[in-house]
Amino acid sequence: MKILHIDHIGIAVESLEQVRAFYTDTLGLAIQDVEHVEEQKVNVAFLPITDSELELLESTDPDGPIGKFIKTKGKGIQHIAFRVENIEDCLQELKSKGVRLIDEKPRMGAGGAKIAFIHPKESHGVLVELCERD
Ligand code: CO
Repeated sequence: MKILHIDHIGIAVESLEQVRAFYTDTLGLAIQDVEHVEEQKVNVAFLPITDSELELLESTDPDGPIGKFIKTKGKGIQHIAFRVENIEDCLQELKSKGVRLIDEKPRMGAGGAKIAFIHPKESHGVLVELCERD
């Protein structure tokens, strides 16, 4: 299994409008794109930082994954995503190591990436996403 670098950090926000000024005016980052991911019930704003980016996740449905996360844990860092070379190989390897996965097979994430989540119980409370991009 080869992790190349941190692809992105997912941050749950209550409202993109509310946090925009902090990330842009205060920190000087730029919002490159905002995408609605219906399957995950979120609007996602991407803020690139060299090889990585911040992924600001705004829930569009209180019963979606981010809505539930904010309800139980509050806003803030929600997941960390590692860029991998070959996500299918990684998932095979993790399965062979007996690691519990949320996604047994990769699915399409925001920005056209192939993604899969490891079960947070395996990663000691940190939600880890694997991510492969062309
Ligand atoms: Co992500």
